[in-house]
Amino acid sequence: MSVPSHFKLNNDVSIPAVGLGTWQAKPGEVGNAVSHALKSGYRHLDCALIYQNEGEVGDAIKGSEVPREEIFITSKVWNTHQTNVAEGLAQTLKDLQTDYLDLYLVHWPIRLIPNETSQLLPSNPDGTRSVDPFWNQKDTWKQMEEVYKSGKVKAIGVSNWSIPYLQDLEKTWEIVPAVNQVELHPYCPQHALKQWCEDKGIYLQAYCPLGSTDSPLLGDSEVAAIAKKYDVSPATILISYQVNRGCIVLPKSVTLSRIDANLKVIALGKEDMDVLEGLAAAGKQQRVNTPQWGHNLGFDDWFGPGNVNAPKK
Ligand SMILES: NC(=O)c1ccc[n+]([C@@H]2O[C@H](COP(=O)([O-])OP(=O)(O)OC[C@H]3O[C@@H](n4cnc5c(N)ncnc54)[C@H](OP(=O)(O)O)[C@@H]3O)[C@@H](O)[C@H]2O)c1
Repeated sequence: MSVPSHFKLNNDVSIPAVGLGTWQAKPGEVGNAVSHALKSGYRHLDCALIYQNEGEVGDAIKGSEVPREEIFITSKVWNTHQTNVAEGLAQTLKDLQTDYLDLYLVHWPIRLIPNETSQLLPSNPDGTRSVDPFWNQKDTWKQMEEVYKSGKVKAIGVSNWSIPYLQDLEKTWEIVPAVNQVELHPYCPQHALKQWCEDKGIYLQAYCPLGSTDSPLLGDSEVAAIAKKYDVSPATILISYQVNRGCIVLPKSVTLSRIDANLKVIALGKEDMDVLEGLAAAGKQQRVNTPQWGHNLGFDDWFGPGNVNAPKK
């Protein structure tokens, strides 16, 4: 059995199954990582304005020998730009030094009100994030549809959207999101969200597929046993798991040998997929990325102890 190298989005745009993540790739590191990735065969980069490194990513793309049209570039409209998506997109296009994106996402279903504390991560005087409780996400999506129609982005989608948020958006969407980029790994498989999205023709993209920084997954004994069986690394199992279940996967690395290694995807047998799909239900459910928005995002498993996102009782 072989694994797909590409998936086809709901508007027929083809997307490479594996893309290089660029979050937390520091200035001075990210350009090197992108240059190396493009040399070693990556044709998919996952970017965002809030990563504050799109300029260096753009330089690396420009300095590579790979033509722009061969690279699938994703970026995301940041929370403080939700009232003016076109402005956020213009900044990203300028930084990435391109005149179009292959995919543009709504980064979070949250609008932040910029203020004197910050234009990107503003806080209230009490230290909480300055979330706009009145902003309607449907108005953000309308603007996404407009930038799609302008031709500046080849596909549009969302990120960090739970089923209740998508159900609300569905009432007015004219264009169905092509993807929903969410936290996905064996400790957070999001089976119900995956099923809901598949029924609507929306692909899930796996962020934090390795468990992010200081990952609890890379040392998991059951992942290690499967890795041993196939004579590959745990990282290869975690990346392959996503492609085998029909999800696009976005491993991040700035380490050249890992960048090379993370392009490898192998076919996994049903019994091994069953183990990986069942780890969370067997008691290992865990999120690794829960920013403190102070807002109920509607994910069933979002709320860990002490997380201010938890609904008030
Ligand atoms: N939409 C969103 O809200 C959102 C949120 C989070 C992430 N993302 C996207 O998803 C991407 C991936 O998520 P992530 O960066 O949080 O985490 P990740 O890809 O799960 O893990 C990255 C970490 O794993 C290490 N690593 C990479 N390859 C490895 C390997 N083969 N063996 C052992 N360790 C390895 C990296 O270290 P080195 O770099 O030092 O090699 C880094 O510390 C992000 O970069 C970003 O593009 C999106």
